[in-house]
Amino acid sequence: MLKAITGTKDILPTEIQRWKYLEKVVEEIFTSFNYKEIRTPVFEETALFARSIGEETDIVGKEMYTFIDKGKTSLTLKPEMTASVVRAFIEHSLGKYQSLNKFFYISPMFRQERPQAGRQRQFHQFGGEALGSTSPLLDAEIIIIVYKILSGLGLKDLTVKLNSLGVPGSRENYKNLLREFLNDSKDKLSGDSRKRLDQNVLRIFDSKVESDQEILKSAPFLIDYIDEESRTDFEVVKNLLKQSNIPFEIDPKLVRGLDYYTKTTFEIVSGKVGSQSALCGGGRYDLLVEQLGGEPTPGVGFAAGMERILFACENEQSLNLPEENIDLYIIKLDKNLSSKVFDLALYFRKGDLVVDYDYLDRSVKAQMREANKFNARYVLFIGGDEFQSGKLNLKNMGTGEQKLIGLDNYSEIINLVRK
Ligand code: HAM
Repeated sequence: MLKAITGTKDILPTEIQRWKYLEKVVEEIFTSFNYKEIRTPVFEETALFARSIGEETDIVGKEMYTFIDKGKTSLTLKPEMTASVVRAFIEHSLGKYQSLNKFFYISPMFRQERPQAGRQRQFHQFGGEALGSTSPLLDAEIIIIVYKILSGLGLKDLTVKLNSLGVPGSRENYKNLLREFLNDSKDKLSGDSRKRLDQNVLRIFDSKVESDQEILKSAPFLIDYIDEESRTDFEVVKNLLKQSNIPFEIDPKLVRGLDYYTKTTFEIVSGKVGSQSALCGGGRYDLLVEQLGGEPTPGVGFAAGMERILFACENEQSLNLPEENIDLYIIKLDKNLSSKVFDLALYFRKGDLVVDYDYLDRSVKAQMREANKFNARYVLFIGGDEFQSGKLNLKNMGTGEQKLIGLDNYSEIINLVRK
């Protein structure tokens, strides 16, 4: 049997209502902050991701779906959106038309990770990116937007983790300091961390190995070595969050898995989704646009994992969505009335009703069962003696009330059902 690829999932009709609801909340909240939607292609030139996310990162080093197309170009299915948004921003000179551009997106992403609960190979993110200002107001705004979305979905077990990575100059000095510190315990570090010592020393903080974490307990933290401007901006972000009643904690180990960050970084974790607990992550990337060949333009943004968020909603039972229903189900009492039912259904649908009927010439009992399965608010019976005498019987399935309506008065049915 052919099956969906490992790490990918079908989103079946029974789950769609939750997805659409999430998408609606995302769109409404971003729109209220005047973010505009952007859609970019599913694949890009591989170089875009290598140059932005960083050659040494897990994403670029191990997880990208990369292939050579027939034109011999190396292409990659997008593992994240920030690089694509920045590419589009530069390509279309969007900074020329508007000094501050605020974008949001909802899109599938692809990473060849080891699948487990909360971790897929095709997953979905929504996110926002604000390009054009270094103002820490935007750092706070971005965090507030995602916090509002998550709490708007009824999620309660949330922790905002905040850190600042400073700018590359101060970070380089700190990296040397950290390397010196770790070199003393080099032999006790795990193999992976030892490898990272030269290439990507900061990522050692991400190690899941307990003995590594033990060593790191007395390590110097980057937050204590960042430059003056980063420090001041960080204070502003913290104050704005306090003022907006967003609870947060400082996590000096929060280094994030992508290389483009400067200054503020953050994640929001849920206590309800198991080991893959980050519902979202983001931060500032003031050098990325320039790094990809654009005019120097600061940026800040985040992305959130939609599967994880819906999983958290399920575990916290936070979404109480109404049962889905249809407005009207037409039941035919005579088989030879099929084309009449076909016409009527089209007529009622034109009147903005959600309408269905039986295509399989089933018994009246089976049609009634189907109407109940679809949770039909009304059922319309066509056929029999009533039809012969020029009437249709409309039944309100909630109250059980029935009403006879003249065959020349279909608009009355629309009015009654619409209410
Ligand atoms: P990220 O931390 O790599 O950041 O991903 C953001 C979120 O996407 C994660 O917190 C998680 O919820 C979800 N996610 C990541 N990988 C998977 C996976 N394999 N399966 C399910 N969910 C996953 C970024 O992508 C950056 N572009 C965020 C950003 C935007 N920074 C600035 N602007």
